[in-house]
Amino acid sequence: MTVSTLPTDSGSTATFNRSGSQLLAWTFFATCMGLFALQIIYGFIMGFAHMGYDGLHEFLPFNTARASHTNLLVVWLLAGFMGAAYWIVPEECERELYSVKAGWLQWGSLVVVSVIALIGFHMNWWEGRKFLEIPRPLDYLVVVNVLLFIGNIGMTIWKAPRMTTTAIVLYFGLFTAALLYLPGMITFDNQVHDSYFRWWVVHLWVEGVWELIMGAILSYLLIKMTGVDREILEKWLYVIVGVTFLSGVLGTGHHYYYIGTPKYWLMIGGIFSALEPLAFLGMAIWAVGVARRGGRQHPNAVALKWSVGCAVMSFVGAGFLGFAHTLPQVNIWTHGTLVTAMHGHLAFWGAYVMIVLSLIAYVLPEMTGRKLFSGWRSEWAFWTSNIGITAMTAAFGVAGIAQVYLERKGGMDFLAVQEGLEVHFLGLILAATLFSAGIGLFMWDFVRYGMPKPQGDKVVTGQVSDAKVAA
Ligand code: HEM
Ligand code: HEM
Ligand SMILES: [Fe+2]
Repeated sequence: MTVSTLPTDSGSTATFNRSGSQLLAWTFFATCMGLFALQIIYGFIMGFAHMGYDGLHEFLPFNTARASHTNLLVVWLLAGFMGAAYWIVPEECERELYSVKAGWLQWGSLVVVSVIALIGFHMNWWEGRKFLEIPRPLDYLVVVNVLLFIGNIGMTIWKAPRMTTTAIVLYFGLFTAALLYLPGMITFDNQVHDSYFRWWVVHLWVEGVWELIMGAILSYLLIKMTGVDREILEKWLYVIVGVTFLSGVLGTGHHYYYIGTPKYWLMIGGIFSALEPLAFLGMAIWAVGVARRGGRQHPNAVALKWSVGCAVMSFVGAGFLGFAHTLPQVNIWTHGTLVTAMHGHLAFWGAYVMIVLSLIAYVLPEMTGRKLFSGWRSEWAFWTSNIGITAMTAAFGVAGIAQVYLERKGGMDFLAVQEGLEVHFLGLILAATLFSAGIGLFMWDFVRYGMPKPQGDKVVTGQVSDAKVAA
């Protein structure tokens, strides 16, 4: 075991051993890569099924592929957030993780639950509630797992010599995300009640507390890479948190339009959800502004590109494309169509996939001491995946609008319309191939970086990242 002396951005010098939490964080990121690859495979299976090539149907019906695709996404993003916490919190708090052992136990149980859930979906063991398909007994294991995680990170912060706004916002986001898992575990015998509380999980995650996690990781990356003052950056983080909650909580109403809930939700949901893009716009302006002020001189330019790109693309996918179908007058037609899939892909990509990939792109050189970020691969990974997913979004969008007009406005039969839309899925598959090529390059780089080096051989954290740039 080696001990490193880390120059920190606060100017102080912290001495602590963090070999353990570093390897732990890396293992979470490696898990992300594996599950992400699997998620993409299920995406292709569904893309082909939509084109009319549903040869696997006997063994793998569409609903199984869909549940696997979306749940894998959620699990690998959560693994990414956990890896992020295991990396960021010790550094922000200037002490090692409270218990590295508990961290490994938590990782192991997460993998076990995920594998059982995935196999379960294939054996028709699932709950059938979109995004919350994991069967109830496994939910209890998830709760234990998350308690272990939240406790470990909480104790690390509690016992730390330093508490930063970034660490607190990150923790608050993770803690509230854990709490909000619980409403999805209540059993109802009424469809409306069940749907009502399902949105407390799904909506309040992605349009509420996950935004805090995203904001905190973004704040960490901008502090490290731009050299702009922590005080200025973190002040804006509070403003963004405020706008997120102000709009996002009552914005839940945009899922209560015509599902059997009282009429006042039409007004409340419409008004407040229409304000939600402001939080994403704020984040984009913040990130672009800070990156400009910092002069973008950090050697790992591609990690900064991912970070600023994340803020911009989340505005496009979540803010702009979310707004496109959030008003009740529009949503009455578009609800549950491929228009939703269009928005779902770019919103998840811009906000949550990109924030995890940003952090990985930043952290790998720090962990391994290698500087692969200047190679062509990392640059191409960024552009190809972003252009690919934008084209996929367009394909879903065109198919979705056609679907709305034919099925909802024209009154054509659902399946007849789906057949008419098959050609659009050729476009989707082509775009998804481009996208996957970009992700493949990212993963290739991940493998080439290799395992983290024990700290002490080299001072990994801080040296590159804390290079001060004139603000
Ligand atoms: C990063 C943030 C966001 C993500 C990841 C996201 C993702 C999603 C996903 C996956 C769905 C489908 C959910 C389901 O049917 O179970 C959805 C639905 C929806 N989203 Fe978002 N979203 C985000 C932000 C927003 C914002 C800011 C708005 C509004 C301005 C918005 C408006 C909507 C609406 C209206 C629906 C319902 C669509 C329907 O009726 O079928 N979203 N979103
Ligand atoms: C090769 C890449 C991919 C392909 C071909 C693909 C394809 C699909 C298809 C065909 C669906 C089902 C649409 C339906 O219900 O008819 C779907 C759902 C979904 N995918 Fe993907 N996908 C891919 C990658 C991704 C990525 C990278 C993300 C995250 C950023 C993602 C997030 C989602 C979400 C959130 C849904 C549910 C959307 C909804 O609620 O309507 N997918 N995908
Ligand atoms: Fe929502």
